[in-house]
Formats: sequence, C-alpha cells, structure tokens
Amino acid sequence: MINNDIYYVGVNDHQIDLFEGQYIVPNGMAYNSYVIMDEKIAVMDSVDEHFKDEWLANTQKVLDGKTPDYLVVSHMEPDHSGSIDAFVKKYPDTEVVATAMAFNMLRQFFGYDCAHKLTVKEKDTLSLGKHVLTFLTAPMVHWPEVMVTYDEYSKTLFSADAFGKFGALDIQEEWACEARRYYFGIVGKYGMQVQGLLKKVSTYDIKTICPLHGPVLDENLNYYLSLYNTWSTYEAESKGVMIACASVYGHTMKAAELLKNKLEEMGCEKVVLCDLAREDMAEAVEDAFRYDRLVLSSVTYNADIFPFMKEFINHLTERNIQKKKIAFMENGSWAPVANKVMKSMFEKCKDITYLEHNVTVLSALNDKNMADIEKLAEELMK
Ligand code: FEO
Repeated sequence: MINNDIYYVGVNDHQIDLFEGQYIVPNGMAYNSYVIMDEKIAVMDSVDEHFKDEWLANTQKVLDGKTPDYLVVSHMEPDHSGSIDAFVKKYPDTEVVATAMAFNMLRQFFGYDCAHKLTVKEKDTLSLGKHVLTFLTAPMVHWPEVMVTYDEYSKTLFSADAFGKFGALDIQEEWACEARRYYFGIVGKYGMQVQGLLKKVSTYDIKTICPLHGPVLDENLNYYLSLYNTWSTYEAESKGVMIACASVYGHTMKAAELLKNKLEEMGCEKVVLCDLAREDMAEAVEDAFRYDRLVLSSVTYNADIFPFMKEFINHLTERNIQKKKIAFMENGSWAPVANKVMKSMFEKCKDITYLEHNVTVLSALNDKNMADIEKLAEELMK
C-alpha cells in the first residue's frame, strides 16, 4: 500500500531492449498502475500489453474478490494502454474514464468503443467515497490526450508520464540521472506545456506523486518540482561545459581532449566530453541541456558534418534547445565547412550566444590550433 488505501499494482520490464523504440534502458522499465480501494474502486491506468497477465494478477490480488468500478486512463501510449483490452474483457461492467481524445485513440488502437465510458474534461470530479478525483488535462505531457488526476483525500497526484524515469523499480539507483535522460528524451520538446502543468498543479496541496514510470515520490517533493521547473524552462541545471565530438581518425577528438584538459586546468566546474559515435545519444542530449556551455566538434564530411553530429544537433533543435552558450570546432583536410553547417542548424533556436573563438583544424593540430583552443577555453571560462 502506498497510502490511504492506494495500492501499487504495476510491473517491472527487464525484457525490453529499446524503450519507445530508441532509448536503451540498462535497468529496465517500470509501468506503474495503482488501485484506489474506496466505496467505489478505481484502477489507475494499465500497463504494456506484454505484462497484462502479471498486471491483472496484481490487480486481482488487491481487489480481493471485488470488481473495479472505474479504469482511469491517463495516457493512451501503448506502454500504459496496452492492457486495456484485456482489462475490459475481464471486467466488462467497469466504466472506463478518459478524455474524449483518449477515447478516440482507444478506438484507433483497439477498433471498438468501450461499452461503458465516462468522458471527462478539465476539472471534472469523480467521487469514490472518501477519495474525490479531480481530472486535469496535461496536453503534450507527453501526448495530446493526457490528463493527470488529483486525489484530495490522500493529497496524491497521479502524474501520468510527468516525474517518470527510466529503470525498473526492483533496482535502486539515483532518481535524477535517469529522470533527466527520460525527461529530455521524451518530453524535452514540450517545456512550455510542462510549465503549464506545473502551474496548474501548484494550486493543489500535493504530498505524494504517483507517476506512470519510476518510483512513487513522497518525500522532499520540492526537489523534484524544482528540477522539473529548471528543465522545462530550459535553464541550465549545472555550471559546466559539454564537449560533443564526432571524429573519424582521432585528430578532431584530440582537439576536443585538449580543450577539456585546458578547461580543467583553468578550474572549470565540470567538463563532459562525449564521443557521439560511441556513447548513448540520449545521455549526450541530456548533458547538452544540463550544462550552460556547449562545444560542438565535428569533422567535415561529404561537404557537410559527420552523421552522428548531425543527428545530435537535430535532437537538440527539435527539443527547442535555448539559453545556451555555444562554440564550434571543425576539422577538414581540404574544404572545412563543419562550423558553418553546425551554426546554421541552430538558426531557429532562441537565446543562443555564439562564442567568438571557434577552432578550425586542417587535418591535424598545429601550433595555431593549440593557441586557438587556449583562447576558446579562456572565453568559455569568462
Ligand atoms: Fe509512458 Fe508517453 O508513455
């Protein structure tokens, strides 16, 4: 039991290779679901279809012979909606509670309309007895049909994907690292909408957050709320320089390493050097948003930039990166264009400050490059 007759009935997924088809999850994934046992019983969301039997068994155990009155559907992405079909077949009289848009998606996914449905909209309430649920829409956190649910009696916010993280619940790990990678990967583009949700829920007294992924949060909530505020306003969370590098034979990487060493010698708070070809792209994206300064170092390739750098910058710009200081380092043996190409990719981004001392390497580092890297390090430390 979590609190006040709210029970956890979710599952851990250690079989998954890529979450949402792209994110590595070394510690698996949790699909959370909850049951509120009151005069009326509400099940809060389902789980990925692969775990429907385990979820239904968990639910049945808590129900202890009773039939649920409601299945509340916060979000129709299949990691949460995949077992709705099995649920409504097992409990055909249970009323499904969702937004109109969620019911449309439910029809698209399952090819039928629910026999018993309750369509809810902003601030509609549903009394279970002591627990009175208030539904609040949260469009684009992470899909347009999303709603969160506040329970006044237990002061619990069922937050859908918000405040979620990668990782199954049977493995202990620091919250922020995998929550940050999850946030910027999954909802990073929608900072404005996350801000809207934070503002909306700030008027409620919240003691517990029950997300659809990651642990239930019931202590030190200001820590989590404050991180979500920082992330969704695109403010840098930490002082530091992230150097993202795409190198072929190592000369471009050598320039990046030299810059890292210079910055560390100068006492930079934190320097992260990422080899974009070899390290997890989602981790690189997370670091680019996390630190206040970003250096992009790429070879010129096919009169363009190296594909890993192109993919990286695309991830940043499609997630609306902003409020950042950026510098460029390029390499090219005959017609270096990487700095120009990289800068042009940020054209539509807001609030980017470009540094003056960019670096151009022609094949391999020379004395002028060393001096330029020193100047760039000095400018980054100003
Ligand atoms: Fe966890 Fe957007 O689904």
